[in-house]
Amino acid sequence: MNYPSLFSPLKVGPYQLNHRLALAPLTRMRAAKPSLAPRPLNAEYYAQRATPGGLLIAEASPVMETGFGSPGVPGIYTEQQISGWREVVDAVHARGGIIFLQLWHVGRVSHSSFQPDGVLPVAPSAVPIADLRTATADGKAVPYETPRALETSEIPGVVDAYRQAAKNALAAGFDGVEVHGANGYLIEQFLQSHTNLRTDRYGGSIPNRTRFLMEVTQAVVDVWGADRVGVRLSPYGVANGSGEPDPMPLYTYAVEQLGLLGLAYLHFIEPRSSGAGRAEVNHQNVPSAMVLFRPIWKGVLITAGGFTGEAADAAIRDGHADAVAFGRIFISNPDLPRRLQRGFPLTPYNRATFYGGDVAGYTDYPEHNELEQA
Ligand SMILES: Cc1cc2nc3c(=O)[nH]c(=O)nc-3n(C[C@H](O)[C@H](O)[C@H](O)COP(=O)(O)O)c2cc1C
Repeated sequence: MNYPSLFSPLKVGPYQLNHRLALAPLTRMRAAKPSLAPRPLNAEYYAQRATPGGLLIAEASPVMETGFGSPGVPGIYTEQQISGWREVVDAVHARGGIIFLQLWHVGRVSHSSFQPDGVLPVAPSAVPIADLRTATADGKAVPYETPRALETSEIPGVVDAYRQAAKNALAAGFDGVEVHGANGYLIEQFLQSHTNLRTDRYGGSIPNRTRFLMEVTQAVVDVWGADRVGVRLSPYGVANGSGEPDPMPLYTYAVEQLGLLGLAYLHFIEPRSSGAGRAEVNHQNVPSAMVLFRPIWKGVLITAGGFTGEAADAAIRDGHADAVAFGRIFISNPDLPRRLQRGFPLTPYNRATFYGGDVAGYTDYPEHNELEQA
């Protein structure tokens, strides 16, 4: 029998991937200010990582003004942002790549200094992130504020912002979109019991807490068709104050419901690397999302988190996942697919340049040069 490998083709929705190594969505905080539109530097960065038939998932992009919690993050709700993204998409398509956009709302993972008119961030319930600090718009480290709970009547407006953002992504020429339901942001705040104390139809029971995820996903599917929409989840994750006491029943229900839609893919973050955006984490003795949920997800499964080339290949050969998204080592190795395929050494990444800045640590990582190595 011929087992699939990291370098065998894969069909994702209508797209034929030539390999199974994707760029994970990575916030890099280098959009133009104050427009928060992608700029030519961003197009160069994505184009460097594009390969024919390779999937790139572009960084989380807020769907509305209240969806921000950090500086220099690109939005997807103004004309200027749409045109900025169009240049990114064109640059990736020129190299034969396939690019999805991740749609984002941070909810309580924000500070009033990022909010329109300096109001409090919104969330399902007025529960602050305890024990962690955040940065204000002028860079001061402060405790998280207590967010304002969304009124039931406001929720359709947030769902509509996702719908409009999905339309905007379509107008920008993307090949699909990914709903960011992971890492402690708004959708996950609705899902999890400690951040959702609501007593309306969006809180309480598991189906009620899953309702917002499903309404957002359905709105995006209405725009794109299910086969061009992915969803990212991080069961057992600990980022940004996440943590469901017993994730299995909640995520089993959510995955089953998503399974009814016929989505392009489901995308997990493995718990061992939850919080990788903030620290070098490799949590030990934690469950594996792909192993736990594979049996109940019939579609394409992408996973991410702490993978080497060999581990990714093994996950695919063992049938635990269909594709693997790489984050940190794709930052420092723009030609990662070729390097892993040919066994070339990897350039280490520099965490200090992950967020914000310009060219340094963004577009200046070199491709592997065989001649220099020889
Ligand atoms: C700098 C940085 C930014 C990230 N931004 C996002 C993001 O915008 N959306 C998201 O879903 N995950 C984000 N993550 C998580 C990554 O997509 C990925 O799941 C994580 O880094 C683990 O994969 P890795 O071990 O290959 O880096 C980020 C991680 C890093 C290091």
